[in-house]
Amino acid sequence: MTMRNLLEVSGLCKTFGHGSRAVKAVDDVSFSIREGSTLGVLGESGSGKSTLARCVLRLVEPDAGKIRFDGEDITWLTPGEMRQRRRDMQMIFQNPLSALNAKMTVEQNVMDPLDVWSIGTPSSRRAKARHLLDMVGLASKSADAYPWEFSGGQQQRVAIARALALEPRLLVCDEATSALDASVQAQIISLLVQLQKEMRLTYILISHNLGVVEYMSDEVLVMQAGKVRELSTTEEVYRFPKSDYTRALIRAVPRMPTPEELEERQRLRAERDA
Ligand SMILES: Nc1ncnc2c1ncn2[C@@H]1O[C@H](COP(=O)(O)OP(=O)(O)O)[C@@H](O)[C@H]1O
Ligand SMILES: [Mg+2]
Repeated sequence: MTMRNLLEVSGLCKTFGHGSRAVKAVDDVSFSIREGSTLGVLGESGSGKSTLARCVLRLVEPDAGKIRFDGEDITWLTPGEMRQRRRDMQMIFQNPLSALNAKMTVEQNVMDPLDVWSIGTPSSRRAKARHLLDMVGLASKSADAYPWEFSGGQQQRVAIARALALEPRLLVCDEATSALDASVQAQIISLLVQLQKEMRLTYILISHNLGVVEYMSDEVLVMQAGKVRELSTTEEVYRFPKSDYTRALIRAVPRMPTPEELEERQRLRAERDA
């Protein structure tokens, strides 16, 4: 892992609404992420996690602050310029179907970004889509199926393949595994870790699952009411939380993991460190 920052954000602010109804969704947030690493983002519901991610990708326009991506200040790029840069920044969501076109087969869905950008030839695009489906663990024979024929975990694999089609540098995962049951969630996490290694991806990982964040993140940012409460290495945040808010979040883990989950976690760790 290099020490080079892929992303540098400083003083980012976003307020929704006006006057007494104004909500400071993101309030003076600064952080940076080294290329190839993962920043976990924790915080209670409504603390501004999704807005922060959307501001970084300029899917929501920030009111103030600065965003540097790969050394370039992207804060004031025009929508047309931004469209180019956004190839390097993709997002996956809790509901994979929201990112997929129900009228397209799985293969067409993965090919779609390549079609939109006219990358390669139709046959090379098809080959790439099949390769991507392979990478996310979906046999290419399923390529002609439609997304709704798939399980939630498989749909998320398709959404990941689609997000990776343009070979992004940054992948934002916004509660991407939250809707999946524990064993499927563990498979998707394992896939994301593997893809990160293979493709040198940088992740922003938003999750209310503390175990997932702890397992995947190099650093953790804790948000409360739009503000950064804590920003440090994962170990530091989990072992020595600086605020009562973080302590409460960490204590709010709903239950002890089952032996199977512990085993799975150990397996994932061994795999990751291999
Ligand atoms: N498009 C929007 N219009 C108005 N308010 C919004 C919008 N998006 C988010 N908010 C508000 O901003 C705050 C942060 O929301 P969000 O970023 O979704 O938090 P989180 O992802 O941590 O749950 C919340 O109070 C939410 O209601
Ligand atoms: Mg959110």
